[in-house]
Amino acid sequence: MEAETIITESLTKFYGKIRGIEDITVRIPSGGVGFLGPNGAGKTTFIRTLLGIIRPTRGRAQVLGYDIRHEINQVRDRIGYIPEFNTSFIPDTTAMKFVAFCARMNGLSYAESKQRASDSLFYVGLGEERYRKLATFSLGMKQKVKLAVALVHDPEIIICDEPTNGLDPTGRVQMLELIRSLQTDEGKNVILSSHLLRDVEQTTDYAMVISEGKIRAEGNIKELTANRRSTVSVKVKTKTEELLHALEKRGMEVWIEGAFIEVKTNPDVEKEIFKTAFQIGADIRYIGSRSSTLEDVFVSLFKEQEAPIQ
Ligand SMILES: Nc1ncnc2c1ncn2[C@@H]1O[C@H](COP(=O)(O)OP(=O)(O)O)[C@@H](O)[C@H]1O
Ligand SMILES: [Mg+2]
Repeated sequence: MEAETIITESLTKFYGKIRGIEDITVRIPSGGVGFLGPNGAGKTTFIRTLLGIIRPTRGRAQVLGYDIRHEINQVRDRIGYIPEFNTSFIPDTTAMKFVAFCARMNGLSYAESKQRASDSLFYVGLGEERYRKLATFSLGMKQKVKLAVALVHDPEIIICDEPTNGLDPTGRVQMLELIRSLQTDEGKNVILSSHLLRDVEQTTDYAMVISEGKIRAEGNIKELTANRRSTVSVKVKTKTEELLHALEKRGMEVWIEGAFIEVKTNPDVEKEIFKTAFQIGADIRYIGSRSSTLEDVFVSLFKEQEAPIQ
């Protein structure tokens, strides 16, 4: 498998004067990647540009080595796509017929289409219901049908745009588990777009944070969060300033955040803080590491913009 699935260079799309995405230059690693950003950030625009549905205003992109401008058919053959909004289902059709029809549209033979439609429907957990009419399906089941359609031509990359929108908690968990297992069990490259932190945290290991059409941060989710807040927080009754300076003198990286002294973590950090505090006669009221999640990163990135956090 290649190290990168998608490479973009200054990829930009303006809808007239409205910015969709601007100067996105990224190398998307293989495996699972989350596009995380508030509504209107540009996630859907980015995805639709990669699929050749939207023409970029400027910039370039390659998907698995194929150029989106000149080789869009090769690109589409290799991507399965779950669109954000409801696909126009044919309500009177069975799930089997619908998925097989989509497979035929993707160029599979009649026999292959039937086999792959059946396999895909079983994979998403709709094997038993495959001969039922789509009109009788719940929203969660319809989302699974969309996933089956995305899988039917056995693509290398699967892009899911807000796949949990409108689902109840059970439906959400099932959908995210399916997406995660595509990655871990089937070795697919999965891109999950979501405005929900918890969806991304639960599903992928790598995240790209998007807002106002630009990539604001990217990296392994563990590293993104660890770099931000690998600190120990200390609160003392008095002598905050003295402790701060004493810790600094010992070569530790320290700063003030509200009522707390933040100390950059090292293996013996807590022991050293206690020793220093004892030496200068400062009473420790609280000591502990405040754990960090992707949410902290997200919040700190978007605090200024007052983006909706969910
Ligand atoms: N067809 C369109 N015409 C005009 N503006 C659009 C269109 N599609 C999206 N936009 C604008 O582009 C920006 C990015 O939208 P979108 O890519 O849908 O973001 P997201 O998927 O992250 O919610 C938003 O400001 C949105 O209003
Ligand atoms: Mg969107």
